[in-house]
Amino acid sequence: MSGPYFLECLSGPNGDCFSSPFFLAPFALVALVAAGGYAARRADVASFRRVRRRALRFSTSLLILSLAAVGYFLIFDPQTVSTTDTSPHAQAVWAATVSGLGASVGFVAGALGLSLGGWIAKQVGRRERMNVQRLVIAIDGPAASGKGTLAKKVALHYALPCLDTGLLYRAVARDVIASGGELSDPIAAVAAAQALNAATLDDGRLRGPAAGDAASIVARIPEVRAALLKYQRAFARQPNGAVLDGRDIGTVVCPDADIKIFVTASAEERARRRHLEYQARGEATTYEDVLSDIRRRDARDSSRDISPMEPARDAVHLDTTALDADAAFQATLEAIEARRRGRCGKNV
Ligand code: DC
Repeated sequence: MSGPYFLECLSGPNGDCFSSPFFLAPFALVALVAAGGYAARRADVASFRRVRRRALRFSTSLLILSLAAVGYFLIFDPQTVSTTDTSPHAQAVWAATVSGLGASVGFVAGALGLSLGGWIAKQVGRRERMNVQRLVIAIDGPAASGKGTLAKKVALHYALPCLDTGLLYRAVARDVIASGGELSDPIAAVAAAQALNAATLDDGRLRGPAAGDAASIVARIPEVRAALLKYQRAFARQPNGAVLDGRDIGTVVCPDADIKIFVTASAEERARRRHLEYQARGEATTYEDVLSDIRRRDARDSSRDISPMEPARDAVHLDTTALDADAAFQATLEAIEARRRGRCGKNV
């Protein structure tokens, strides 16, 4: 054989090389990585995305570095590249540079294979969901943005079960306090999260301002979030789907939700609404206290390291500052129906 093996193979008369292990090995490896990506995305979308992001970043950085090193040799040391008439040291460095380039191309192929597997898993998941007509709706947003009322209305409209996930964190905080523990103590908080009884969520005390503030303290503990994640995902897996509202539903709990809404409103408007609610329930608070509680919680919920409050990349943004509950509901219904028909923008 003369010339590069790969080209000889492709132009060969009988195509023998297609069954050669040397020719097939890279494709088999990429297929294996793609299968891994497929399985990983189906098991846990958030972890898959994290790994894929790191793999792409690492492999492209390596590729850029090795291309730069090869470029250096081609421009400044062409003798080493074209002949052996240079020092053994230069020859060794050139050989290592070429090997580095080969390895980084391999890493890029691996990262792309992983992405390909993930993309296939996404398409398969979409098709499965379309076939069974399930509808999972994720509604996120800050305190008193109107997401709770909106979630209930949407759930009623589509006859879906609804979970206010804030109640889970509120109940964990209640149970920590009841057991005499500290809210910021991970051991007490995790024990309460693991022992949480969903039948105790229907508790009027969970709706007050103190419960919300306490909830946002236990919600910063990663193990508490992990303990509650299983329950929330199981809730979303119901046969017809579900509506869940919270802070991280679109990003962590249900990253594959059919529609994600991120509800916002100005802090002042949210404080005004929440203050009216508390007054109607006979709670003794001032507007100023409610506003500072809302600001404190916003800061805590969006600055924590794990699952911070933030809109998912594919979320529809809904600003309810100037909308009443019915107008917000209508805008959301339109967004849901547009998404189901396959076209939807980012803002309503
Ligand atoms: O939605 P809410 O106000 O009832 O939530 C109370 C607190 O619980 C909130 O300040 C942060 C936390 N929470 C969370 O971290 N993740 C969720 N999915 C829901 C609530």
